[in-house]
Amino acid sequence: APIISGTPFRSTTTDKYAYAFDIDGVLLRGGRPIPEALEAMRMLNGQNSYGIKIPYIFVTNGGGKTEQDRCIQLSQQLEIEVSPGQFICGHTPMREMAATYGTVLVVGGEGEKCRLVAEGYGFKDVVTPGDIIKDNPDTTPFRKLTGEEHNDSRLRDFSKVDIEAIFVFADSRDWAGDQQIILDLLMSENGRLGTRSKTFEDGPPVFFSHNDVVWSASHDLTRLGMGALRLSLEAMFKAITGKDVYTTAFGKPQIRTFQFATRLLQQWRKDTHGIDSPPDTVYFVGDTPESDILGTNEFNKQSKNTWYSILVRTGVYQEGTKPKFTPNATVDNVLGAVKHGMEREY
Ligand code: G3P
Ligand code: MG
Repeated sequence: APIISGTPFRSTTTDKYAYAFDIDGVLLRGGRPIPEALEAMRMLNGQNSYGIKIPYIFVTNGGGKTEQDRCIQLSQQLEIEVSPGQFICGHTPMREMAATYGTVLVVGGEGEKCRLVAEGYGFKDVVTPGDIIKDNPDTTPFRKLTGEEHNDSRLRDFSKVDIEAIFVFADSRDWAGDQQIILDLLMSENGRLGTRSKTFEDGPPVFFSHNDVVWSASHDLTRLGMGALRLSLEAMFKAITGKDVYTTAFGKPQIRTFQFATRLLQQWRKDTHGIDSPPDTVYFVGDTPESDILGTNEFNKQSKNTWYSILVRTGVYQEGTKPKFTPNATVDNVLGAVKHGMEREY
């Protein structure tokens, strides 16, 4: 029978299936909810003809603030309660690398927010591009720190510091300046600013929180994302040094992000719903074939056919083209995706 929304007589939580949602292009565009998203969320919370509640988590490549802050914001945007226990953003798995490196450069996001995220993850010594420009304003000829940036940036002598790794946590707000600084480090001797390696092979490793070349924001057409910054950096490094640089991306479609999501969902179902067995099916709803659909399909192969990819037409993927990776289903929007999963179950 078709699923309809509405207030049920009573509600119970299913242990059979669950949902995982991408955010940009599925639930939000430029911070505003996609119209059908609110009803989709209400349906998951029991407002459907079966009176069934379905557990769900969020898996976004976005980032730039703490998981706690992002969940407060998402709760307001979607008119539901969202907890960090059901939320993963692009940089969440980077937490596991905090003990591996000493001094690290953290790039991207607004103001000091990403430094605070990294420190919250346990990174011991976090440097920002602002700190480097404050120490030597000649670093970026066309970028001057604002008064606020100058105050927030920490003064230190970078001729005495080795930067051991570079983490791009969120989208750069200043591509030219940030790329100059990352290139300086990649071409340095062991991450010491002001030096030049003879081989261009001993710069620090670079980690990106995801690899989306484009994403779906408030503009009608897709906008450049962090994957574009990565491509740009790699091309510049090649043009200047003649060598290739190998960088690493986290986020979707990486399998480890889906493994992380599986553990999170397991914990979430246990803690909030008292469910101790794994679900038969996890419906992943996304808008980007290269991240959401590829990742879900690949992970499905490793997880005994328990993940199911649903592509929506409200974000990166648009009607009339063939998606680069084929989803299990394609629907108009997130409400259609929720109904599709529920109808398959009953
Ligand atoms: O910068 C965020 C964007 O690239 C993707 O976010 O929620 O679609 O994974 P999301
Ligand atoms: Mg998306």
